[in-house]
Amino acid sequence: MRLERLRIRGLRCLAEADIELGEGIHAFVGANGAGKTSVLEAAFLLSHGRSFRAGAKDVLLQRGASALSVFGEIRHEDGRIGRVGLGREGARWEARLDGRTASLGEVVSECAVVCFEPGSHALIAGAAEERRRYLDWGVFHVEHEFLLAWRRYQRALKQRNSLLRTGGAVAPELFQSWEAELSQAGERIHAMRLRYLDLLSPHLERTIGGLLPELGAIQLRYRRGWPEERGLGEVLADQRDRDLARGHTTQGVHRADWSISFEQAPLREHLSRGQEKLTALGCLLAQAALFAGQKGEWPIVCLDDLASELDLAHQTAVVGQLTGVGAQVLVTGTELPAPLQGLSAHVFHVEQGKVAAPAIITA
Ligand SMILES: Nc1ncnc2c1ncn2[C@@H]1O[C@H](COP(=O)(O)OP(=O)(O)OP(=O)(O)O)[C@@H](O)[C@H]1O
Ligand SMILES: [Mg+2]
Repeated sequence: MRLERLRIRGLRCLAEADIELGEGIHAFVGANGAGKTSVLEAAFLLSHGRSFRAGAKDVLLQRGASALSVFGEIRHEDGRIGRVGLGREGARWEARLDGRTASLGEVVSECAVVCFEPGSHALIAGAAEERRRYLDWGVFHVEHEFLLAWRRYQRALKQRNSLLRTGGAVAPELFQSWEAELSQAGERIHAMRLRYLDLLSPHLERTIGGLLPELGAIQLRYRRGWPEERGLGEVLADQRDRDLARGHTTQGVHRADWSISFEQAPLREHLSRGQEKLTALGCLLAQAALFAGQKGEWPIVCLDDLASELDLAHQTAVVGQLTGVGAQVLVTGTELPAPLQGLSAHVFHVEQGKVAAPAIITA
């Protein structure tokens, strides 16, 4: 799929930008603080309903502005065009699809963006939540049932947690009904995640192996969030007293995690910062490749600050991989990244929140 048009209003320093995009590589070039990352953030917002940068979604709203909106026109491999939008007017966020009000889930399932950016190493070195989000984004796109199960689980989790916080004077039947719901939805989510990781694993071997061959074979480990060999319902019932003392649910799919280790770097602490980044990049590329295999089209790939994140050989390898498969790629940099010189690309200059019409360079 590719974005043919990206229209941004009131997002950070971008008061108004209307960007037409084509096939292949797009480079957004300009000084620090010009608004390059914000362009990628807009695309990412349409595919995730949030930013990849820290902070609440509301910090995206341009200071002093009352509304924010991002619209994207997406051309799919089969020629179909999807029009997606996400905006905030006053205190309310609204999602739109093909001219009508839609759910965030509908917008997100229409538009797929994977983004490698300076914070991406958190996928390897950061909190488990980051890794669950990555996993669930992938599962969401290949398993139709996932969103429903995930919503059921979140609702039941919230209910059980509020019972836990009442301090124990609650009839056990009340716990039982939410625990049954948690267990059913949770077992389903776990099964979908497991299936997804099985599909992802050969892609990870290829993408990470290609970026970090010196570290040897990789091993993917997954922890589902409660002890193996036991049903989630049974574990929740057993844990109830302990959870009452803690005031929240300590076991379940919301505690799942996964990790990657290498033959030559069995512990995460063995990895350099650059190796963490390359591992994270490999994970994102693997997810994009699996998406392509399942859906018949590549997601849009964003690479923020490529040149400051990776050495030249790795930049070249990534760009080569992505142009080879025909993905639409959006790259940012203070200058045109070296591996793009000599390739065909659309180059946009970004200056103080303004995105200029592109210069098209051809190889
Ligand atoms: N809510 C906001 N309202 C207005 N301006 C904002 C807001 N949030 C951030 N900014 C400003 O918008 C600009 C956005 O910068 P962005 O991160 O997109 O720049 P960049 O071109 O990627 O820079 P760098 O090369 O440093 O990564 C910055 O100048 C920042 O100070
Ligand atoms: Mg930036």
